[in-house]
Amino acid sequence: MSIKYNADSKTFILETRDSSYLMKVSQYGNLLHLYYGSRIPDEDLDYLIKVQDRGFSPNPNEAGNDRTFSLDYLAQEFSSDGKGDYRIPSIEVLNCDGSQIFSGKVESHRIYRGKYPLKGMPSVQAGPDDSVDSLEVRLKDKVSGAAAVLCYSVFEEKNVITRTVRFINCGQKAMKLLKLMSATVDYKASEYEMIHFSGRHVMEREFVRVPMQSGIHSIGSSRGTSSHQYNPFAILCEKGANEDWGRCYGYSLVYSGNFLIEAERDQFRQLRINVGVNPKGFSWFLEPGEEFQAPEAVMAYSGNGLTELSKRYHDIYRENLCRSPYAKKPRPVVINSWEAAYFDFDDEKLLEIAREAVDMGVDLFVLDDGWFGKRDDDNSGLGDWKVNRRKLRTGISGLSEAVHAMGLDFGIWIEPEMVSEDSDLYRAHPDWCLKAPERPMTRGRNQLVLDLSRRDVCDYLIEAINGILTEARIEYVKWDMNRSISDVWSGLLPAERQGETAHRYVLGLYYVMDEVILKHPDVLFCGCSGGGGRYDPGMLYYQPEIWCSDNTDAKARLKIQYGTSFVYPVNTLESHVSVCPNHQTGRTVPIGTRGIVAMNGILGYELDPTLLDNKEKKACREQIRFYKEHYEIIAYGDYYRLESPYENLYVTAWQHVSRDRKHSLVSMVITDREGNDAQRYVKLKGLDAKAYYQIEGLEGRYSGAVLMNAGIPVPNDLNEYEGTVVCLDMINPCGQ
Ligand code: DGJ
Repeated sequence: MSIKYNADSKTFILETRDSSYLMKVSQYGNLLHLYYGSRIPDEDLDYLIKVQDRGFSPNPNEAGNDRTFSLDYLAQEFSSDGKGDYRIPSIEVLNCDGSQIFSGKVESHRIYRGKYPLKGMPSVQAGPDDSVDSLEVRLKDKVSGAAAVLCYSVFEEKNVITRTVRFINCGQKAMKLLKLMSATVDYKASEYEMIHFSGRHVMEREFVRVPMQSGIHSIGSSRGTSSHQYNPFAILCEKGANEDWGRCYGYSLVYSGNFLIEAERDQFRQLRINVGVNPKGFSWFLEPGEEFQAPEAVMAYSGNGLTELSKRYHDIYRENLCRSPYAKKPRPVVINSWEAAYFDFDDEKLLEIAREAVDMGVDLFVLDDGWFGKRDDDNSGLGDWKVNRRKLRTGISGLSEAVHAMGLDFGIWIEPEMVSEDSDLYRAHPDWCLKAPERPMTRGRNQLVLDLSRRDVCDYLIEAINGILTEARIEYVKWDMNRSISDVWSGLLPAERQGETAHRYVLGLYYVMDEVILKHPDVLFCGCSGGGGRYDPGMLYYQPEIWCSDNTDAKARLKIQYGTSFVYPVNTLESHVSVCPNHQTGRTVPIGTRGIVAMNGILGYELDPTLLDNKEKKACREQIRFYKEHYEIIAYGDYYRLESPYENLYVTAWQHVSRDRKHSLVSMVITDREGNDAQRYVKLKGLDAKAYYQIEGLEGRYSGAVLMNAGIPVPNDLNEYEGTVVCLDMINPCGQ
């Protein structure tokens, strides 16, 4: 078992292959945190709990005259307000008597094989080859009767621990939950930095690194989605940690709505991190017997820097998260109509695009926004999922047949969660959108948000989308969501339950996805929210890939995809070659580089191929051929960030290495040039040091040791924004 309980020392020991996580029940029943880090032998760690009489640190009643025991500074697993711990709490409640105290003491625990169940929400699953054990520790508040069940699952070989909390009102009276974090971890005094990924529409997941100083540092979303602005993922690392050195801890939340990741450095320079649903605007009313389930947090630890930490997430999210069979299938190369035609198309125009795409070697044609209802721009039509016969005379089924006749599969765009005021759906059901009584509603992209906290709205959507999917032969669906949520108020909930609306919306969305996506295993679903505004593990549970950003400029994508790579694997990231000057930035980047950058993900096209010249078409054909030839390494290989677009102004580089280390692709893009430039080298990673490799473009053969320590030259004849991919093949595994 990877989980043990030492009854003598009352210690829980959770062990992955390379990490240990320990907690201990105090003499008064509190669950104290002992250790999280590199794997250590099973020894008594009681010496780590240092108690001391400290001024202004209250002592719990059960400690009697012992003035050294205080929750003000002890490391805890699940901290609550009101009993002398003043740091950011894991839980906040409002009891029926108006008090805001939850004092959870260990009542019981259970260790079992397999993963804990998590109802109604996405979570990572144990695969047939995974050894997974689980622990549940029940903390009970004697006065209110409420209980928090802390759940842990250990994915031993994947070096990951998942966590969640179930809160149950086992008391006799109703109460309100105001905050419930999925995971809390307390660190001893030390110097830490937080890395997180912030941004905005068309510039998502920029790399941000901040030292943890006294006070609270938090990131999160209250936009109803996980958001473009912050991703539900953060890394805590020791000061100075880099790709290959340093202790790094990852916290990723499997959730697609409002989230909070907060870290507090306290008066004693200790650090606490909390991860969970954002308490801003949240409350959950619990009648006796009712419970609330927090979403899952996925924790990983690396003692050897950021690359190893990313690998842990890549492995588990690639293999254990997505429920669609497509997660493990090769993905088609798509051509998408959005940047090619926007709203301005008819059957003929689309078929011309498709015809040219066949010639390029594309596999699937996607019809983006504008095919339904009255939709000639983004001001109307959302909600009316009936084909617009003025644009598509033969309907979706006719277009799909014509596309299939050319040898391409067919896909379609939908935005189910939204409604336009100028739509039949809104005219029939004005009460179906989120809107507070008597207050004028807030528009975003001139559209409103359907109230997915309502079962009737969800059921309507399930029927509508399933209708589209049965009406025509459709192999691919791009599921979009194009505004931040506001006016969070649901017509069906009583006043005391309005704080539940945002979370109920997410649960409703997951229900719709359960009924649509998981019921159509033959359809490949691609997530999207104005690009990467909902790039999170919750969505990846349903949709194996996500449109990474509406910014298709290859230079800007270097940063966006760099940030994304810290937690999400390459084969979840959809990336397209588009035309230049780029529609978002006006920049011109050579077609070759656009291909190199798009191939650092799931390659596709976002352009009108009828407007390409022969040279460009040839380049696209060659990109698709190359990508398909190397698909296994790109999609399933190990990933290395070699040169960061933030730290190296001149060249950004990354590397894909096959699992057996026999083949590798090294991609480099020049981001700046100087006159009479220095010769630069890029040091490779992940190779077999003792084996020899043949390198495209270099005479002779070189050992992995040489290539990883001396590097390979960055071709000096590349101009600004030009790039290259170098292929390496092992020629002699024994080094003879
Ligand atoms: C936002 C998406 O990110 C785009 O790719 C496109 O599908 C538009 N929405 C369509 O409205």
